[in-house]
Amino acid sequence: MPKPLPIQFQATDLEALAAATGSIVVLADASQPASPGFRRLDRLTKGALARAAGSEAFGKLKPGEAMELAFPPGIAADAVQLVRLPKKADQTQARKAGATIGKAHGAGHTLILAEAHARAADIAFGLAMRAYDFDSHKTGEKTAPGAVTLMATNPEAVARAAAPMAAVAEGVFFTRDLVNEPANVLTTHDFAARLAAMQELGLDVEILEEEELMKLGMGALLGVGQGSESPSKVVVMQWHGGKKGEAPFALIGKGVVFDTGGISIKPAAGMEEMTMDMGGAGVVAGVMRTLALRKARANVVGLVGLVENMPDGRAQRPGDVVKSMKGDTIEVINTDAEGRLVLADVMWYAQERFKPTGMIDLATLTGAIIIALGHENTGVFSNNDELCNAFLAAAKAEGEGAWRMPMGDAYDAKLKSRIADMMNVGGRDGGAITAAQFLQRFVKPETPWCHLDIAGTALTKGETALAPKGATGWGVMALDRLIRDRFEK
Ligand code: BES
Ligand code: MN
Ligand code: ZN
Repeated sequence: MPKPLPIQFQATDLEALAAATGSIVVLADASQPASPGFRRLDRLTKGALARAAGSEAFGKLKPGEAMELAFPPGIAADAVQLVRLPKKADQTQARKAGATIGKAHGAGHTLILAEAHARAADIAFGLAMRAYDFDSHKTGEKTAPGAVTLMATNPEAVARAAAPMAAVAEGVFFTRDLVNEPANVLTTHDFAARLAAMQELGLDVEILEEEELMKLGMGALLGVGQGSESPSKVVVMQWHGGKKGEAPFALIGKGVVFDTGGISIKPAAGMEEMTMDMGGAGVVAGVMRTLALRKARANVVGLVGLVENMPDGRAQRPGDVVKSMKGDTIEVINTDAEGRLVLADVMWYAQERFKPTGMIDLATLTGAIIIALGHENTGVFSNNDELCNAFLAAAKAEGEGAWRMPMGDAYDAKLKSRIADMMNVGGRDGGAITAAQFLQRFVKPETPWCHLDIAGTALTKGETALAPKGATGWGVMALDRLIRDRFEK
């Protein structure tokens, strides 16, 4: 499993610049006086840096973007990367600068002259996030990434600020790996084993097998998995970092390791993307890993429903009626609306067992949310303005797109069934909203709750500011921040 790139923090040593090999990164902004490192490098390269920084092209760069000087005279390095970054750069700009450096970083050594820049730790974080690469299924020669050294005026302070960020990056990488992994590798069994391995980090991890789920009455979840050779599982991860005996905050994830649609089978084109249908569970796992790594002072429980939605002689049929753990019956009109069936039982179990102070579920739940919001924003649904606004603020602070969607009785009415307590679909119109209404039927009125539909944001077709093509790990940063701001202040 790839781990974030280790970065060495050192005191600024301008004497080392002439002999440094690989790539040297220096920060500049045309409107501000140059740093001592810039001036030293400029002298060594006979004015090449000042010419570049004064050029029209450099002036057109946005904060965080870079210009490369290849094989500059007077120094041993193969390249100088001139990154445009104002001294007063915000967190997003500094992370972007780091991502620019991370994208260019190859097998050679990279030396970053952060010097007195106040956002040095954010630069390191952006670099680590963008240097992610999922290559475990590529055979042949692999070149390990080279070392990275960051020189700062106060390296101890930068290292201290960067440590919790490294825990976040490792959580994000864990999520990305899970989401990128194909379904023949990441079976329900393999997924549960990877979560159980997190006990080493101090998490309590329990795996509930089908027999126990049957005893608990989780008929909705079990119906989804009954056509698969991979047994359904619910995994409970507890982090006890807060006050003893205090009720936890709950995170719930949809973990459909592959979604064929079941008997309501999906079209062949693009079905391979449904390896990411465990994205909600992946984010919950990534957040729990981060909390454990940085020893968060909060009580948080993460629960994931791991199932595979397959067509089979034993698979659930359209028209079947299943009974949820709550006791409500559901007419399964479409076996492809399976995520909500899984979440209904896991959310009910979480509330019955833990009486959480709040609950957030994450799921790649509907194609309809992609129609509504594209790939830029997660759809946020909530029964509680206070929790919802706190989450939206955390997402904004971390630069993760999130947009609140409406709910209401008129949407809920679409779920009425002729023969059971409800149907599992509410029609094409407002499909992401009727899905959220379905979930809300399994939320106790006293539980503050948010539902995050991440169908559009879990995976990127291009690349995002901090992620290459593929799994993004969207939500790990925002949820970690929410927990920090809500419970650790
Ligand atoms: N996993 C899908 C939703 C999805 C679609 C995720 C595209 C990521 C990309 C979900 O289980 C599903 O199939 N939803 C159906 C619901 C419908 C049958 C009511 C959908 O969105 O079409
Ligand atoms: Mn589906
Ligand atoms: Zn699905």
